[in-house]
Amino acid sequence: MTTREKPNNLWVSRWGFILAATGSAVGLGNIWKFPYMTGEFGGGAFVLVYLACILAIGIPIMMVEIGYGRRGRGSPIDAIRRVARESGRSSGWSLLGWMAMLCGFMILSFYVVVAGWSVSYLWKAISGGLNADSVDGMAAIFGANNANPLNLGFWSTLVTVTTMLIVGKGVQDGIERNVRWMMPGMVIMLAIMIVYAMFSGGFGQALDFLFGFELGKLSGEGLLAAMGHAFFTLSLASGAILTYGSYLPDGSSIARTTFTVAVCDTLVALMAGLAIFPVIFANGMDPASGPGLIFMSLPLAFQQMPFGTLLEIIFFVMLTMAALTSAISMIEATVAWLNESKGISRVKASWGTGIVLWIVSTLAMLSFNVGADWTLAGKTFFDWLDYLTSRWMMPLGGLGMALLAGFVLRNEIFKAELGLSKAQHALWLFMIRYVSPLGIVVIFIDALGIMTLDMGAQWPWLLAALAVFVAIGEMLSPRLRRQLAG
Ligand code: PHE
Repeated sequence: MTTREKPNNLWVSRWGFILAATGSAVGLGNIWKFPYMTGEFGGGAFVLVYLACILAIGIPIMMVEIGYGRRGRGSPIDAIRRVARESGRSSGWSLLGWMAMLCGFMILSFYVVVAGWSVSYLWKAISGGLNADSVDGMAAIFGANNANPLNLGFWSTLVTVTTMLIVGKGVQDGIERNVRWMMPGMVIMLAIMIVYAMFSGGFGQALDFLFGFELGKLSGEGLLAAMGHAFFTLSLASGAILTYGSYLPDGSSIARTTFTVAVCDTLVALMAGLAIFPVIFANGMDPASGPGLIFMSLPLAFQQMPFGTLLEIIFFVMLTMAALTSAISMIEATVAWLNESKGISRVKASWGTGIVLWIVSTLAMLSFNVGADWTLAGKTFFDWLDYLTSRWMMPLGGLGMALLAGFVLRNEIFKAELGLSKAQHALWLFMIRYVSPLGIVVIFIDALGIMTLDMGAQWPWLLAALAVFVAIGEMLSPRLRRQLAG
């Protein structure tokens, strides 16, 4: 069955992959973005749509990416070119790999700034610098931390250097060795925080807030934010999962590992919600306070509670580790490409990439001080990096990868890679050919402002669109029909 390439690198075990991929998936997206987005978009309804997107779009596309990686055994550019060639298709499809690699690099350029906030807050918590008696006071601390570029730049540089040090050491000795202790450590710290939250007095309210599913409450914008976040949180279309998949040993089941990673990622996001919101509610604060939620409201809430400083320290250590295990995955694609295709040693490739990254991330960091008014269409450089990647590059890349796997490549490739039963394969084909692409197209329609979506009212139209998609697709290339007919 295998016409797979020979791998350059492999994880020591399937667990190495699961820990590394979960480390990639679990990051600032789970602990910083997910709670504040849930807060902003009103709680349970957002959570429900987000879960649906993970299932319908995220999981099928993650299987595709790991499949490309393992089949093509290389960086996104090389792996996609090889699978396309294997099916007798144009190597031009490797453009998808270029875009993914660029996307991972761009995300990391602003990610190190947020990770830098986390490390600087850890330092503040330890050194007693997180003292204020109101949200305004905390906002002032946050503002002061951002205002001096030398200060903020110091912390983001620290994150950049640490990331490149780990990546430079290689797949097994750098990445796998570090995720092996960081991931369990993170889960233990999160568990301590949840137990603490249970006794804070706000736990019941937090449960209601997170799981009180009321679809009517969700705006069209919340729906789209949930879809974009599903890509971001699973590290899709950014080279990370694909490159990690290229190190996956031959015998491991892609479906099983994908489910494990997606379930762990989702659990951590929900657990982060259960650690943060009880403390917020117990202190009568607003869950909808935006990106500053964990940097302003949360430290303030902790201060008013017993052992607050200790919990603050645990929280920021956990956040920093989560950020680091994601950061290394964003740059692995670039380093692997320089190493495998250009023959540059990993150490040199890491430092070279690190220098370019440092320059771009410094520009992103300046968005919070001297460059605050270097804006284009009202967005700073930092905002642009976030907006372009989450709103455009990830969904577009995901769409391309889904269509390539669903319509262009020989069906045998994914039959061999995924090794699913007949019915499971049919379900996967249905998702990858129709459901995931339609979901993504919906994001674009909204992002282009062509139409404002309102799921509550328009779902019958979406179902009709899906039926039309399936009819046209199966007329032009009756793959699913054949799979079902056996
Ligand atoms: N999934 C990471 C998070 O939730 C972010 C990420 C995006 C990591 C893209 C790798 C690639 O924080």
